[in-house]
Amino acid sequence: MTAQPVSNGTPEFAAPSNLPGHIGIIMDGNGRWATRSGLPRSVGHERGVDALRETVKAAQKLGLSYLTVYSFSTENWRRPMAEVTALFSLLRLFIKKDLKRLKSENVKISVFGTREGLPEDICDLLDLAERETAENSRFNLGIAFNYGGREEIARAARDVARKVADGEMTLDEIDQHAIARHLDTRAFPDPDVIIRTGQEHRLSNFLVWQAAYSELIFMDVLWPEFGEVHLRAALETFAARERRFGGLSSEAG
Ligand code: IPE
Ligand code: IPE
Ligand code: MG
Repeated sequence: MTAQPVSNGTPEFAAPSNLPGHIGIIMDGNGRWATRSGLPRSVGHERGVDALRETVKAAQKLGLSYLTVYSFSTENWRRPMAEVTALFSLLRLFIKKDLKRLKSENVKISVFGTREGLPEDICDLLDLAERETAENSRFNLGIAFNYGGREEIARAARDVARKVADGEMTLDEIDQHAIARHLDTRAFPDPDVIIRTGQEHRLSNFLVWQAAYSELIFMDVLWPEFGEVHLRAALETFAARERRFGGLSSEAG
């Protein structure tokens, strides 16, 4: 299940016909990359933002339409406050520096997660990013920030329950489609593939509802070193997978 980039960095890559509609990326390994290089963890996160820029650029170039990146989880509050603060500062910087360019590139930004506990100026910046790009349509960038899949599902359940209590919905109308329509990701298709860098093989509360039939690709590369070549390798791995969605293989008699 491990995808590796082609060795010489210049792959003979023909864009596969079955490109994933939506890719999710768990950008992991910033801290370890920094520690291995004798640098503070915050530098790893800074380099991680550079890798994110390159990845968004590559995803656009390769013709993808939906990309969601996991940048801060509801569990990441367990880290030392100095690291949490550094991560927030990087988000501020990213939006202030990149929003104008992303807007001009026709990128629509959607933010997934709860605003609870976030500093007010961060909430304002996240709102600004969504508002400024709301009319864009060429590429969809989901930013999972202060995001936890279980929190998202609980919030959706609460919203549905409120509608039932208010008489806007009936109990019988609650099915999986109704729940999906109340998730933060409701405007995105389910991820066809989830890539996780950094050698860990788990979802860590990322898109747990939406990942029901996602292909999982785990890559050893640490996130700051991720780039176009790794994305291409992951797309090739995805293209070779057979998805059955509970049915039978096309080769089954
Ligand atoms: C991912 O890198 C970024 C965030 C979780 C915000 P890590 O900070 O988890 O890096 P490692 O896993 O400690 O190397
Ligand atoms: C997942 O990475 C969260 C993000 C990439 C934002 P973590 O580093 O927080 O995950 P665990 O703790 O190793 O499961
Ligand atoms: Mg980690």
